Amino acid sequence: MEGMRVLFSAAEIAARVEVLAAEIARTLPADFVMVGLLKGAWVFVADLARALERAGARPEIEFMRLSSYGLGKQSSGAVQLLGDIPPGLAGRPVLLVDDIVDTGRSIAYAAAQLRERGIGNLWICALLDKPKRREVEVAIDFVGFTIDDVFVVGYGTDYAEKYRHLPYVGVVE
Ligand code: IMP
Ligand code: MG
Repeated sequence: MEGMRVLFSAAEIAARVEVLAAEIARTLPADFVMVGLLKGAWVFVADLARALERAGARPEIEFMRLSSYGLGKQSSGAVQLLGDIPPGLAGRPVLLVDDIVDTGRSIAYAAAQLRERGIGNLWICALLDKPKRREVEVAIDFVGFTIDDVFVVGYGTDYAEKYRHLPYVGVVE
């Protein structure tokens, strides 16, 4: 694709997802629920779920939809919950999954919402971590790749709703 620099190829992502899944399967109790944040985490959740099966784990899958970015590259900072929090999570171990942790506001907000519902232990997993951009401190238990302050697209993530379908993570140039 024109003007696109590949940061992580489909093969690199696939290899990393297998390793992450093995770590998660080793660490979490058997009956955990994976809660993905929409829309960005949709591809990652789908791949991670199947890698978890290969690693011997059998998570239940739920989603929460958050919105903060609108159409720009900069977060508005105001995170909103669109729709409901999945029911039946009280007391359950939860793995919260997002595509990217940037300022940390989205994941911190989602974690707070889940804790309010009285979930059991919580772990956080993100495919990409941008620690230089952090504004809210969050402990991420499982990170796919740590990246610099660059705006990426693909593998579920978008710029103005484009590029989510790309099988790799790239930088629009
Ligand atoms: P945060 O609340 O600032 O941590 O933003 C997290 C959310 O913003 C992620 O779930 C992504 O969906 C989105 N996001 C952050 N950085 C990027 C990026 O580089 N490209 C596309 N989406 C991003
Ligand atoms: Mg997101």
